[in-house]
Amino acid sequence: MPRSFYDEVGGRPVFETIVDRFYEIAIADPMLRPLFATADAATTRRRITAFFVQYWGGPHDYSRERGNPRLALRHSLFRIGRAEHDAWLAAMREALEGPELTAEQRTAFYGYLVAAAARLINHAP
Ligand code: HEM
Repeated sequence: MPRSFYDEVGGRPVFETIVDRFYEIAIADPMLRPLFATADAATTRRRITAFFVQYWGGPHDYSRERGNPRLALRHSLFRIGRAEHDAWLAAMREALEGPELTAEQRTAFYGYLVAAAARLINHAP
């Protein structure tokens, strides 16, 4: 069986590093802070990590806990305009600099995020 992207990059710790760094950046960002500095931040951080682990071929803990991701529906609770979208992607782009990834791996991960984030905009500026 071909190795998954999850295995190739080094498994769960790499995804934890990315999401932990994302949260540090988001909490320091005036636009993202209200969205991510919540009482449930530890839970959501764990869920986002599990989601990426699953998406890239690791264990399916996310679905076991949450069922279908239904990301558009879950994000409809938040007002996501172009500005929030751009701030989120910029934070993720920076977070992806944390772990030792190859340029190709970073491009693959970021390219996926760009495509997925575009579908979550739910508010015209
Ligand atoms: C477009 C910019 C985005 C914004 C502003 C945004 C914002 C948020 C917010 C505010 C939460 C909940 C945080 C909390 O309750 O503590 C959340 C949860 C989550 N986000 Fe995003 N998000 C964005 C894009 C994405 C993308 C592109 C993905 C996946 C590729 C993603 C995956 C998730 C997941 C998996 C959760 C947890 C869902 C669950 O509860 O099961 N988000 N996001």
